[in-house]
Amino acid sequence: MEVRQFGYASDNLGYLVYGNRHAVAIDPGAADEMVAFADARGLAIGIVTNTHSHYDHVQGNRKMLRLTGARFQDCRTLREREFIEIGDERLLVFHTPGHMDDCLSFKADHRLITGDTLFNGTVGNCFSGDMEGFFRSIKLLTSFPGESQIYAGHDYVRQSMAFARTIDPDNPHIDAYLGKYDPGHVVSTLADEFKVNPYVRFNHPDLVAAMEKHGLPVATEYERWCSVMELY
Ligand SMILES: [Fe+2]
Repeated sequence: MEVRQFGYASDNLGYLVYGNRHAVAIDPGAADEMVAFADARGLAIGIVTNTHSHYDHVQGNRKMLRLTGARFQDCRTLREREFIEIGDERLLVFHTPGHMDDCLSFKADHRLITGDTLFNGTVGNCFSGDMEGFFRSIKLLTSFPGESQIYAGHDYVRQSMAFARTIDPDNPHIDAYLGKYDPGHVVSTLADEFKVNPYVRFNHPDLVAAMEKHGLPVATEYERWCSVMELY
């Protein structure tokens, strides 16, 4: 399985996941570009789905369905650890609530399409109010191997590293992370995230010290998660 990223709007990122002949479109805001890419490679886009139901992620659905005749798979009906077949391969689906209750992440081999749950350098806002669910989602996504690649729903790399510097000013990895940043192909590994992303580093002593400085609770891992989310 391959993953191709398509930027649209100011900072949104959508994806085609494809095998030899079949493709799935996820958050198809760049519908024309996705169809052109698929046509050039002889790929049939058979399914259109979304990482979650926020408008900026679903706005391309109708156009993509019209252009391709694909089947629409509502993200709200995909249960945890189901899969979508792409030819004879499987795109795994994980329910990762927190940003919204209907957030999904997708696993294509070693690539994770994480929507607005986990970004390169930060995490989404907890619009659902379900901090425990968000905690479990981040724990799940960060449980995959360090070489896993994170393909997110927006490019917030520069802003997130500017923020990371404010609470983790001595972190020596931020410059290297920005050095690898390519706005034309926004990706990082989970290992990179554990070096720079404050929202997956809530157990790191430097982050715990920052929370304590702000008088935030740090006794349990869940408290540290809630506290790091308070720091923003
Ligand atoms: Fe969103």
